[in-house]
Amino acid sequence: SRLVVLVSGSGTNLQALLDAIAADPGGYGARIVAVGADRSGIAGLERAERAGIPTFVCPVGEYATRADWDRALAEAVGAYEPDLVVLAGFMKLVGGEFLARFGGRTLNTHPALLPSFPGAHGVRDALAHGVKVTGCTVMLVDDGVDTGPIIAQGVVAVRPDDSEDTLHERIKEVERALLVDVVGTLARDGYRIEGRKVHIP
Ligand code: GRF
Repeated sequence: SRLVVLVSGSGTNLQALLDAIAADPGGYGARIVAVGADRSGIAGLERAERAGIPTFVCPVGEYATRADWDRALAEAVGAYEPDLVVLAGFMKLVGGEFLARFGGRTLNTHPALLPSFPGAHGVRDALAHGVKVTGCTVMLVDDGVDTGPIIAQGVVAVRPDDSEDTLHERIKEVERALLVDVVGTLARDGYRIEGRKVHIP
């Protein structure tokens, strides 16, 4: 399978995918054909460049409307003819045009146990709420905010002395492993979506 990965920041989830593929190029069942971002100058793009993977950037500010940006992003992704699109720490909401083309085969990863604590501050919100366990979720992207069908989740215990950063780092360890596993499985074995259920054979 052909993967396009979208990032907005450090790209450690992307790196986990790169490492898994490098470790077993034949067996992993997928290869990353391009990495895109909504801004330049981020570590995620450097990781792609180091791996010799083509990159592209679609800054929101360069487009007259959000719909124009969404269309441009869809075009940039579509040029690589992906089988799967992975949002790995991509901090923008994709819109109607993008989902018309790649909905149902776009995955996202979120550092909380959805449906709890959706949105851009899931780790901070869980910590503030005083939960004893939190975790991460890999799901399909739909037109809501972190509301798509859940594929896999991992649980992380919250420690009394946790800060947002220490907790997020521990979540990311689980998240990276979960994402590598789900992407590899979907790429190799395919999947079927029935309503909110994603069936992996
Ligand atoms: C991940 O925890 C992701 O779920 C969240 O931001 C983090 C991105 O980390 N949206 P990285 O850029 O993959 O290191």
